[in-house]
Amino acid sequence: MTLRLAEHSKDREQQVAQIRQSLGLRSIVLIGLMGAGKTAVGRRLANWLDLPFTDADSEIEAAAGQSIKEIFAEHGEAYFREGERKVIARLLEGGPQVLATGGGAYMNPETRAAIQAHGISIWLKADLRVLLKRVSRRDNRPLLAVGDPETVMKILMAERNPVYAQADLIVESHEVPHDVIVGAVADALAAKLGCDMPARKQRRKKVQ
Ligand code: S3P
Repeated sequence: MTLRLAEHSKDREQQVAQIRQSLGLRSIVLIGLMGAGKTAVGRRLANWLDLPFTDADSEIEAAAGQSIKEIFAEHGEAYFREGERKVIARLLEGGPQVLATGGGAYMNPETRAAIQAHGISIWLKADLRVLLKRVSRRDNRPLLAVGDPETVMKILMAERNPVYAQADLIVESHEVPHDVIVGAVADALAAKLGCDMPARKQRRKKVQ
């Protein structure tokens, strides 16, 4: 390993340690529309921070013993939303962790308040084209099965984006490898938590 690489990984180690320390028992909560990359980015972020990763939708499915598609079909959306609220309230007691939530979760005021109290929220913000491309890969989303996905997605963006904008942090989820987005999330988190790698900044200053 070259000296520069070793220094870089030391900086990163330091950044991880600082983020974890400042985070305490709080959860890092990823919010945003279907296809924003919450699960994929969340899993990698958790791995990088050496924290557990929790996917709220999987937990809801485990609690119900049914897939989300089945819950919607058999019991309807209102029933799903109630289960979602309860499961996320429970999960938020289990920090520190990286928690990926379903796209509608943050729309519930109680859930928003619970996230605010127990976590740091990050809106993964993607544009329409990116969202549509990503959601077209699977047909497991009941909200998109009821009409033209583009029309539904546009309606959801108009309704939800102003609410997602209340998140503590907003990170653009572009069409780049997920690890690049993880890096952007990590930097945003570090800045928010005041862990901005002062050692590296000082070195940079000296060189100038
Ligand atoms: C939903 C998003 C889904 C899932 C459910 C409803 C929504 O999760 O919770 O189908 O209301 O946007 P993802 O955002 O992980 O796809």
